Amino acid sequence: MLKYVIIIALATNLFNAECPTICNCTANVANCTYKNLRFFPVGKYSKTITVLDVSYNNLETIEKLDLRNRYIIHLTHLNLSNNAIIKIDGNSFIGQRNLQEVDLSGNNIITLPPDVLKYLPQLKCLNLSNNKKLKLTDGYPFLISDTLEVLYLEHCDLVHIPFKAIMKLKNLKVLYLSNNKIRNIHDYSGITLNSLIDLDLSGNSLQSLRKEIISSHDDL
Ligand SMILES: *[C@@H]1O[C@H](CO)[C@@H](O)[C@H](O)[C@H]1NC(C)=O
Ligand SMILES: *[C@@H]1O[C@H](CO)[C@@H](O)[C@H](O)[C@H]1NC(C)=O
Ligand SMILES: *[C@@H]1O[C@H](CO)[C@@H](O)[C@H](O)[C@H]1NC(C)=O
Ligand SMILES: *[C@@H]1O[C@H](CO)[C@@H](O)[C@H](O)[C@H]1NC(C)=O
Repeated sequence: MLKYVIIIALATNLFNAECPTICNCTANVANCTYKNLRFFPVGKYSKTITVLDVSYNNLETIEKLDLRNRYIIHLTHLNLSNNAIIKIDGNSFIGQRNLQEVDLSGNNIITLPPDVLKYLPQLKCLNLSNNKKLKLTDGYPFLISDTLEVLYLEHCDLVHIPFKAIMKLKNLKVLYLSNNKIRNIHDYSGITLNSLIDLDLSGNSLQSLRKEIISSHDDL
């Protein structure tokens, strides 16, 4: 009996060697969307996948070994949008040396471990839009990255521009803050974001814009 089970397991495994059964894969993409998953899909992934799409599921936490236990190490794009993610372990993405884009939009994230992006040398774009519970604590760097260029924080119910929270994003060029509840920029306290060249504040109800910000960023 046991032998039989093992043979079937092996055969199934060979057949689907490169893809967890719940997902749809090509050589480079593992697509595991819309499956009501509560955990990262189990199974063997192709060593060549660069895009992992687990969006539109019910994941609540991202654990330290979720990617590494599955030998997923060459990602360029990771899509975890539209889940129910509350917590992400600070080491979840470690070793993803090619990772360029992470989509965490449409989740329940309150805060992230500040170091979670720190060791991703290719990271360019992070989407945190539609995280309505996001708390960007004043006077505390929310995230640290020397490479991140584009950050989406749209529809997050933010009440002010999180200048201090983003001060350790040394290469940030574009910050999308549209459709928040930002009313003024009075809490601006002289922090210069030299790299920032585009700031989208549309869909807020701005009442005043401090002069300093405009003058220190002529191209806004
Ligand atoms: C894979 O994609 C096809 C075509 O879109 C779809 O019919 C099928 O249900 C998908 N399979 C899985 C396991 O998601
Ligand atoms: C995965 O499949 C969904 C549904 O078919 C599609 O919208 C999405 O673009 C796919 N993801 C990737 C990375 O191709
Ligand atoms: C998830 O992100 C990937 C890569 O950016 C994208 O190709 C894909 O279409 C996204 N998935 C869905 C369902 O939108
Ligand atoms: C970021 O997330 C929002 C909300 O899910 C989505 O509408 C938008 O297309 C995403 N942008 C990028 C560049 O992925």
